[in-house]
Amino acid sequence: MVFILAATGSAVGLGNIWRFSYMVGESGGAAFVLLYLGCVLLIGMPVLLAEWILGRRGQSNPINTMAKLAREGGRTQAWILIGLSGILAAFLILSFYSVIGGWSLAYILSTVTGTFTDQDAEAVGEHFNSLLGSPGVLLLWHTAFMVLVVGIVARGVTKGLEAAVRTLMPALVILLALLVVYGMTTGHFGEALRFMFSPDWGAVTGEVVIAAMGQAFFTLSLGMGIMMAYGSYLGRDVKLVSTAGTVIVLDTVVALLAGMAIFPIVFLHGLSPGEGPGLIFVTLPIAFGNITGGVILGLIFFLLLTFAALTSAISLLEPVVEFVQERSPFSRVWSTVAAAICIWALGIAALMSFNVWDFPILFGLNVFDLLDTFTSRFLLPLTGLGAVVFAAWFLDRESVRQELAMGTTGTMLWNVVARFVAPIGVVIVFVSAFL
Ligand code: PHE
Repeated sequence: MVFILAATGSAVGLGNIWRFSYMVGESGGAAFVLLYLGCVLLIGMPVLLAEWILGRRGQSNPINTMAKLAREGGRTQAWILIGLSGILAAFLILSFYSVIGGWSLAYILSTVTGTFTDQDAEAVGEHFNSLLGSPGVLLLWHTAFMVLVVGIVARGVTKGLEAAVRTLMPALVILLALLVVYGMTTGHFGEALRFMFSPDWGAVTGEVVIAAMGQAFFTLSLGMGIMMAYGSYLGRDVKLVSTAGTVIVLDTVVALLAGMAIFPIVFLHGLSPGEGPGLIFVTLPIAFGNITGGVILGLIFFLLLTFAALTSAISLLEPVVEFVQERSPFSRVWSTVAAAICIWALGIAALMSFNVWDFPILFGLNVFDLLDTFTSRFLLPLTGLGAVVFAAWFLDRESVRQELAMGTTGTMLWNVVARFVAPIGVVIVFVSAFL
C-alpha cells in the first residue's frame, strides 16, 4: 500500500494539472489527448512495468541496478547509462518544476488575500502577467519551494507524506470534479469536450505526436529511474500489473478532470487555449473569484496542488541526492543542500525566461522551454526505451515471468508489447517528429 502511495505521489503532480492542460491547449486539443492516452497505454504501461521489474530484480538504485543486471546477464556495463541519464533528467526537470511549484505557492497567498474575488478574466490575466514580469518575486517563490523540498528530503521524513497522499489525493480529485461541475453549469462545457475529445487528425504534426509522448513519460515519472528505484522497495507479493493499472488510471483521471475543469472557463471567457504555461493560473482563479466560498475552495486547491507538486519534487531530488552522497564525502544533509543549490541556480535561468531572458537561446527556444522540451521529448523517452528494451530482450525470461506473475497469455502479451509495440512506438514517434 505504501508503495502505491509513493508511486502515485510521484506521478500525480504539476504534470497532470499545469502541464497537461497547457500542452493540450498548445497542441490543438483532442488529437493530442488521444495520442497521449495511446502513449500512456502502449508505451507508458510497459515502460513502467519494465522499470519496476528491473528495480525489484536489481534491489538497488538505478545505476547499481543496471550495473548488476548487465553483469549477471553478461551484457556491457554501458547499460548504466540508463541510470545516469535518468539522474540528469531529474536534475534538469526539478530546476523548472520548482519555478512552477513557486507559482502555486504564490497563488495560495493571492487567493487568501482575496486578489481574485469578483475579478474578471482580464484582471486575473494581468495579475499573472505582473507575477511573471517580476523576476525578484518569482525568485522568492522558487526559493521557497526549493527550501520546502530540501527540508523534507534532508530530514528523510517522506514516510509521513505517503500517509498524507492517501487523504490529499482523493481530496484533489473531488475538488477537480467540483470544478468540472462548475464548468458544466456556467462554462462552455460542450465546446470544451469537443476541443478535448473530438480530434481533427488532419492538423496533427510530428510536433504534436512527440509532445504527446513526452507528456506520457513526464506525467508517469518515467525514464528517470525513479520508478526503478521504487521497484527496489517493492514487496515480493505486490502484483505489478494491477498496481501499474491503478497508478496509471489515477494519474490519467486527474489529468482529464483538470482539462475538463479548465477548458470550459477558457471558452467562456474567450481566452486562448494556447496561452502557454500560465493556462491554469489565468483560468481557475476566475472560477474561484466568482463562486461563493471561492476563497476557501481556491485556497484548498492551491494547497493541494502545492502538496502534489512537493511529493513529485521530492521524488525528483532523491535520486540526485543519492548520487551525490555516494560519490562525495558529504553527509545526507549536505548532499541534499549541494544538489539543491545547483538545481536552484539552474531554476533561476528558467524563471528569467518569463521576463529578462524572454528570447530564444537555442533551436528557437528560451531556457525554460529548452529544459522542458529536451528532457520530456528526448531524455525521458530514450531512457525509458533503454529500460524496456533491456527488460524485454536481455533479462532472462524466467526472472521476467516470476516478476510479472501472470498466466501464459499475460506473459505473451507482455512479450509482444514490451519487445515490439513500445520500442517501435517510441522510434515511430521520434521519426515522425523529423518528417
Ligand atoms: N510526474 C510528475 C508530475 O506529473 C512529475 C515528475 C516527473 C515527477 C518526473 C518525478 C519524475 O508532475
